[in-house]
Amino acid sequence: MSENDDASVAVETHALDNPTKTLWHGRFGEGPSAELLAFTVSLHFDQRLAEVDIEGSRAHVTMLARQGLLTNDERAEIVRALEVVRTELADGVFVFAESDEDIHTAIERRVTEIAGSAGGKLHTGRSRNDQVATDLRLWLKLAGQDQIQRIQALQDVLIQRAIEAEESYLPGYTHLQRAQPVLLAHHLLAHVWAFARDVDRWFDCLARADVSPLGAGALAGSSLPIDPAFSAQQLGFARPFENSLDAVSDRDFVAEALFCAAMTQVHLSRIGEEVVLWTTEEFGFMRLSDGYSTGSSMLPQKKNPDIAELARGKAGRLIGDLTGFLSTLKGLPLSYNRDLQEDKEPLFDAIDTCALTLSAIAGLLETATLVPARLAEAADSPANAATDLAEHLVGQGVPFREAHAVVGNLVRQSIERGVGLDELVETDPRLGPEAIPLLQPGAGVKRRTSPGGAGPAPLVEQLRLVDERMAAQRVRLG
Ligand code: ARG
Repeated sequence: MSENDDASVAVETHALDNPTKTLWHGRFGEGPSAELLAFTVSLHFDQRLAEVDIEGSRAHVTMLARQGLLTNDERAEIVRALEVVRTELADGVFVFAESDEDIHTAIERRVTEIAGSAGGKLHTGRSRNDQVATDLRLWLKLAGQDQIQRIQALQDVLIQRAIEAEESYLPGYTHLQRAQPVLLAHHLLAHVWAFARDVDRWFDCLARADVSPLGAGALAGSSLPIDPAFSAQQLGFARPFENSLDAVSDRDFVAEALFCAAMTQVHLSRIGEEVVLWTTEEFGFMRLSDGYSTGSSMLPQKKNPDIAELARGKAGRLIGDLTGFLSTLKGLPLSYNRDLQEDKEPLFDAIDTCALTLSAIAGLLETATLVPARLAEAADSPANAATDLAEHLVGQGVPFREAHAVVGNLVRQSIERGVGLDELVETDPRLGPEAIPLLQPGAGVKRRTSPGGAGPAPLVEQLRLVDERMAAQRVRLG
């Protein structure tokens, strides 16, 4: 792994007799060991926080200047240095030093190199403990918006496919056994509602994450006249923290985000499983476009649903990100503990994986071909009308339990005697010829008329509700 390679480079150059200047060098007679540096470094993954770290520092020095803790010139010098750092990082010319254990250290070191003694004042009244918590919240606010947008894009595809599905119907399943016919549109919209809950969850999560920890210091605040509310406002947070210990210890927002992503991935996994089934020769409900399927290196005839399988497989990984991080949190006393550095890798992994899956599944569904003839054929087997036959008897005043037994008996006889169900229905004294239309292809789905049901009549209302929900989502996203 390249990460280990990087670490071993650090090992060679960080011998104890060649001390590296750390942020805490004043207290220490010796420099850090190679093992310490290799083990504790987080730069290779927290570099992603560079942009928000610079934003956080800009807000912090603006606050310091406003409070008389920096002169305006000092503030200007630091801001200028921060902008140089931003450009160097963006252009890929930022030179990391051996002593840069994380992105916060790296940026502060470089700002001090550029801005001289003014740079040495950047960290006034601040600790990496409040700094890193601030950075991660800022990062999550952006990442969460991106997740919501990607979920919405997938919802749009599902809604479009639902509209295009028109009158198409397929068997609805319970226990993966054919149960009752449902409109294809109804099936596709079921997934849209699950994703609508995911969007709601993200909004809730982001609202709780919208608190600035900046100004909590290492754990207890400061003796200096800092103004956390002003910093919060500068950074666009809804409010500042109320308790400094909580501010540097709280990673609920990470756990919640991990749950949001894991739940979405579980929804994607369930779609993935359906795609895997539907694209089998046995089902034959769906054909994937070439661009969203793979072939086999050996079997020339194969067309495989790898995206759907990976959507399913990666759900395990996101569940691991969530449970792993909760395990990290569970034993931690107040306040900051270095264990908390373990928050970033699972968060980045979960968000990145879910984002890629959302886009891949959206593309797959947008370009897949559904096969209405196969869908209808599977739904039209007379046994799928059994409930309609029972409900027909209920309409004639037969108690449902009795009606259920009558029809169940006919189905059993049909199987045991190898006689068509239609024949048995026609000759049954209680059902008879007038029940035969219930067995006609496409008849059953039209009878799903109750609110929220699977037939064409309630679908009209459902499409209106989906529209309403999507419009509300878009307004909320702004
Ligand atoms: N890289 C550290 C983290 O992610 C920054 C905070 C370090 N604080 C400390 N007291 N060592 O948590």
